[in-house]
Amino acid sequence: MPAYQTPPGTFDVLAPQSGRWQALVATFARAVTGAGYGLVLTPTFEEVAIFHRLGDSTDVVRKEMYDFEDKGGRHLALRPEVTASVVRAYIQHRPTTPWKAWYAGSNFRYEKAQAGRYREFHQVGVEAFGSGDADLDVEVMALGWEFFAALGLAEVELRLNSLGDATCRPPYRAMLLAYLSERRDQLCDEHRERLEENPLRVLDCKRPSCRAVSAGTPRQLDHLCEPCEAHFARARDGLDHLGIPYTIDTALVRGLDYYTRTTFEYVGLALESAQNAVGGGGRYDMLVEQMGGPPTPGVGFALGVERTLLACAAEGVFAVEDLSPAIEVFVVDFAGGAWARDLTAELRAAGIRCDRAFDARSAKAQFKAADRSGARFAVVIGPDEAEAGTVAVKDLGSGGTDQRTLRRADLVAEMGKLLGAG
Ligand code: HAM
Repeated sequence: MPAYQTPPGTFDVLAPQSGRWQALVATFARAVTGAGYGLVLTPTFEEVAIFHRLGDSTDVVRKEMYDFEDKGGRHLALRPEVTASVVRAYIQHRPTTPWKAWYAGSNFRYEKAQAGRYREFHQVGVEAFGSGDADLDVEVMALGWEFFAALGLAEVELRLNSLGDATCRPPYRAMLLAYLSERRDQLCDEHRERLEENPLRVLDCKRPSCRAVSAGTPRQLDHLCEPCEAHFARARDGLDHLGIPYTIDTALVRGLDYYTRTTFEYVGLALESAQNAVGGGGRYDMLVEQMGGPPTPGVGFALGVERTLLACAAEGVFAVEDLSPAIEVFVVDFAGGAWARDLTAELRAAGIRCDRAFDARSAKAQFKAADRSGARFAVVIGPDEAEAGTVAVKDLGSGGTDQRTLRRADLVAEMGKLLGAG
């Protein structure tokens, strides 16, 4: 076993499998840029305080944060998600609204690593700021839905809920707290102790004791104020009109605290593990203000790249392999190596994909490498060609029968013609 390996919960992705990652992000970019979303890049680490806005009682903040002090004494954290950073960027730069942004990148959560749950994982996502219109919720949910369809996934379920707003959440919270307080001794240790801090967290607890209690709790969806009811009805109506199926899941609370009104998850039904949420999101109409910005509604989602690819594997779709285009020309140089150096540079400058061997390998070893590279042509230069100012061009698919000699000065133009003709 090698001395150094990836830390628990992390992994390497090499070509050709990495081609699926590239293709996934490219498919996502196509879908969202076509709807007016622009790429946003934010730092992988931020001031830890930014992430406290995700909810001090959530597992993400309490237990899973990769936080540290830097050499300047700043308390920073690797991002556990991207929404908080995009909100911070919105407040810092104040782009005109509606501001629609998309992203792709890594996130870090110190979780118990298992299939579909990693300590460094990747997301693609969108965030849209400046409109409280339920039609924007529909646009966002539809983008995720269509993206999964573009990958070929058929077994994805959209689960939908509403978590109310600043008007109807507080009375619901009080009702929930009263209900849970009566059953306090049935809750898990953690939630028994922290019940008052945020009773909604009990609804997201996976321990059997809490699950048994939460099965009977009142649900926010049954206690929405009139504007939240209307918003939810409009969102449902939009999905119905677009022909996007969904199920109402009154138990859906999400693992982060910033949500208001519409919340949703995409569940990969072909995934057997407990980690079957391939994505999730919702509205967060109070987050910008809570982070010190002007009151600005927002809505978005993030999709887990690893879990999406696991769902693709489970359904046997999106079997894209290496995306990097194959090498076209392999330069075989047994006249010293400098020709390989110069000819590959010349061919590449002309836009021809080419490669070579190093370390002055034997002609036989270089031809083997040429075959392995998948190149159509070998450009061969030995002492005789070097002397004569020529190169030999072999069609590697012909079993060595198709070979011609070219003047070195004509190589780039002639190769262009030969490749064009293929
Ligand atoms: P989230 O539900 O925490 O939401 O994460 C979104 C997705 O990231 C999950 O559905 C899952 O596919 C993937 N994911 C989360 N944790 C892990 C992990 N440890 N290993 C592998 N995949 C994981 C958010 O992050 C919100 N920022 C989404 C959002 C955007 N809400 C509004 N805008």
